[in-house]
Amino acid sequence: MSTAEAPPTTCQDMPEGAGAGPRDAADAWQGWVGSRARVRRARDGERTDRPLPPGSVDLASNDYLGLSRDPSMARAAARAARTHGTGAGASRVVTGTHPVLPALEQDLARYAGRREALVFSSGYAANQGLLGALGGSGTLLVLDAHAHASLIDGARLSRAEVRTTAHGDLAEVEVALREHRRRNGVRARAAVVVESVYSVLGDTAPLTETARLCAEHGALLVVDEAHTLAAVPGGSAVRAEGLSDAGHVLVTATLSKALGAQGGAVLLGGEGAGAWRDHLLNTARTFLFDTALAPPAAGAARRALALADERRIGRLIANAEVAHRVLAGHPVTADRVERGAGAVHSVRMRSPGGAVRSAEVLRARGIAVGCFRPPSVPDGIARLRITIHADHDRRRLTRALETVAETINREDT
Ligand SMILES: Cc1ncc(COP(=O)(O)O)c(C=O)c1O
Repeated sequence: MSTAEAPPTTCQDMPEGAGAGPRDAADAWQGWVGSRARVRRARDGERTDRPLPPGSVDLASNDYLGLSRDPSMARAAARAARTHGTGAGASRVVTGTHPVLPALEQDLARYAGRREALVFSSGYAANQGLLGALGGSGTLLVLDAHAHASLIDGARLSRAEVRTTAHGDLAEVEVALREHRRRNGVRARAAVVVESVYSVLGDTAPLTETARLCAEHGALLVVDEAHTLAAVPGGSAVRAEGLSDAGHVLVTATLSKALGAQGGAVLLGGEGAGAWRDHLLNTARTFLFDTALAPPAAGAARRALALADERRIGRLIANAEVAHRVLAGHPVTADRVERGAGAVHSVRMRSPGGAVRSAEVLRARGIAVGCFRPPSVPDGIARLRITIHADHDRRRLTRALETVAETINREDT
């Protein structure tokens, strides 16, 4: 077949107005979908969504406290389903606010030491909703380069000016805030967006210093506590840093990781907390136009808050210590492991291919690890991500981590 006869492989290849019809349109899109798949495969970037084989050692999920399988969580979910229904049925501002949701909000606020909470259908929706509600043009959002996709998307959709600063670089944040005020006046709105523990490297943001810097520049600080709510001593990193009452610190969280349920929340403190809650209830698009969190998830999350006590969190931290000792003490992983501040340990790999092969071999041997590779790693370095759980048996955990190191040694050459 000559080039002239070759079927179009991208939408751009379609001559304008030529071959208009459902079949041609479908073919053109199929060509494009196929070409995207070829690019992904060439970069070792193809993902799969296979279930975890039964009996695997789970070093990949974010079920940090092992609560998602707690029988009392299942009972709480079933009770909420019987009382309020299996689905919320509508947005919160229509009929979706079943009594379990305000009850969950009260529990969440109390647990995190904050005054108010607003629950969303996911952590992703909470981040998008909050950043979108911080205002359009005239607002500056300063995002850390390692911010989660939900924060990046929220910032993009907000129509605010967005600046991305180098990971953990407070000096750059300060320059951005200073310039914004110089250009737009001292009342110019700005918010700095960080994660308490970053999902890729497992490292922390300097919350106290960032909150102080924000206060000095009249800016808000948005802290995504996805990886710290119920996973650090005291249950919240913001609380542990004594920032619960700081009105300029807005917290987002997920109910889907350490709390073993599903959903997200914005947690608000200080005297303006009620006004912020009203503002979000009226303007956050993912709150207004999304069906409310399903009652069973809310019931389970309430139960999780009762279970996520210092004893369970202490077990998580002790297991994370064990994991760090094994990985930092093994000749293969010693130089590659990032010291996670919490339960997330990140192991640098030489290549995306090595990461994929290692994760595959480990999976076949009954060990699940996270496999992060470009484009979803902010610095372009492929990594295996290992998450520790409170209910990991120490001996099994140690053996699994040794297998991880041996596998990396063989596969990531
Ligand atoms: C830092 C961070 N924020 C937000 C989310 C989204 O939360 P959810 O899974 O509840 O939508 C995640 C993970 O999924 C995350 O890692």
